[in-house]
Amino acid sequence: MQLAKFKSIFKRSFVEFYTLMIWTIYMVLIFIEWNKGNIDLKNASFWVLTLFFILFESMAVSFQSFILRKFGEDKTTEMLVSTGVIISVLSAAILPPSLAVLLPLFGYLFLRIKILFSKNYYYFLFNVASLGIITYFTSNFLHLFFNKFGNSLLASTIFITAGSMIYFLLNLGLTITFLFAFYEKISKEIVDFVIGEGRFFNTFSTAVNTLIVYVLYTYIGLFAIPLSLFTFLTIQLSNYYSTKYRNAKIELLTALSKSIEEKDPYTAGHGEKVSEFAVKIGEKFGLPKKDIDLLKTAGVLHDIGKIGIPDFILLKKGKLTDDEYLIMKEHPKKGYEILKQVNEFEDTVAKWVLHHHERWDGSGYPEGLSGEEIPIQARILTLADVYHALISDRPYRSALSKEEAIKIIQEESGKLFDPQLVEIILNLIREGKV
Ligand SMILES: [Fe+2]
Repeated sequence: MQLAKFKSIFKRSFVEFYTLMIWTIYMVLIFIEWNKGNIDLKNASFWVLTLFFILFESMAVSFQSFILRKFGEDKTTEMLVSTGVIISVLSAAILPPSLAVLLPLFGYLFLRIKILFSKNYYYFLFNVASLGIITYFTSNFLHLFFNKFGNSLLASTIFITAGSMIYFLLNLGLTITFLFAFYEKISKEIVDFVIGEGRFFNTFSTAVNTLIVYVLYTYIGLFAIPLSLFTFLTIQLSNYYSTKYRNAKIELLTALSKSIEEKDPYTAGHGEKVSEFAVKIGEKFGLPKKDIDLLKTAGVLHDIGKIGIPDFILLKKGKLTDDEYLIMKEHPKKGYEILKQVNEFEDTVAKWVLHHHERWDGSGYPEGLSGEEIPIQARILTLADVYHALISDRPYRSALSKEEAIKIIQEESGKLFDPQLVEIILNLIREGKV
């Protein structure tokens, strides 16, 4: 107990020590500029940019809550996500370094003053100091080159792109060292988060956006800032609401899908399990992260088309007649029709659900595709679906043991299932992972 307590104190002081070091560097930079008499707070651009920095950062909150959920309730990550990057790079280009360095301080004093007086005060200090230092160096870099080579369109394009890269790299370095100080280790999840999907691409989009405002600024002056930034703000808002709308649609579909399962005690919870198994198979197969995320959704939603199947067929205890079976076989198509309503599902989740009853040997439905004609994600769903059905109780039999399930899966390799996937699931079963 004592040891654990000591450890937690030590951990805290380690990251605090690191933060105070960064904060000291930040204060020294400000002091140097102040000492040289460079800090002129009567600069109107500074205040306009600070205002927009505050606006953009408050907008980022919704995105942050998503990240926080993903990482549990850990507040550490809160400082990492910033849509104010455009403002920061822009202020580095427009303002002298002596003012660019102050912008995060003024912005966050307004936005996050509460954190400064909480036990997590070092989030605030790190946030401000790291952003200040990065902006300061980027600003010095940009001014050095603008002074030397002028700010023609070509020069601006080159320097602002390079400036955004420098900003990105410095930010990466500081963030990773902070997280290292916090966790005392670097996990794959952290690295994925910091340099993961889209982050690198974002740097280029930041560069382009900053360039647009900067060039406008050189032509029409201060007015360019509210003019263009309001446009970005609008784009950001519409992105935010379209994401929200999309998520609401998916939540609705999930609820619908679960309510169909709930009608029958034997299938309750089936979608979740298919989803879990499909993700494990997909990961072992080496599908990209984006596919895995979609596969997770497809697993939950794979039988959503059963909403269109009458209850007397869906819940029938005995064997289905030929006609009833024909109706039952409609559910993948109905599922496709429902799921393609979500734009990004049309060529992914909806297609995979459409084909989740195809068979490797071509004798499945609805299109009788065979082998690799069937999308790999659909082949994975088939396997996960059947495997979970085998190890669950059914009205006509009790759950099979894993050994019995293995036997059936082996028999169906190359008939119902893709042999390559059979190998993967057999290993997963033996390792006790499914
Ligand atoms: Fe199905």
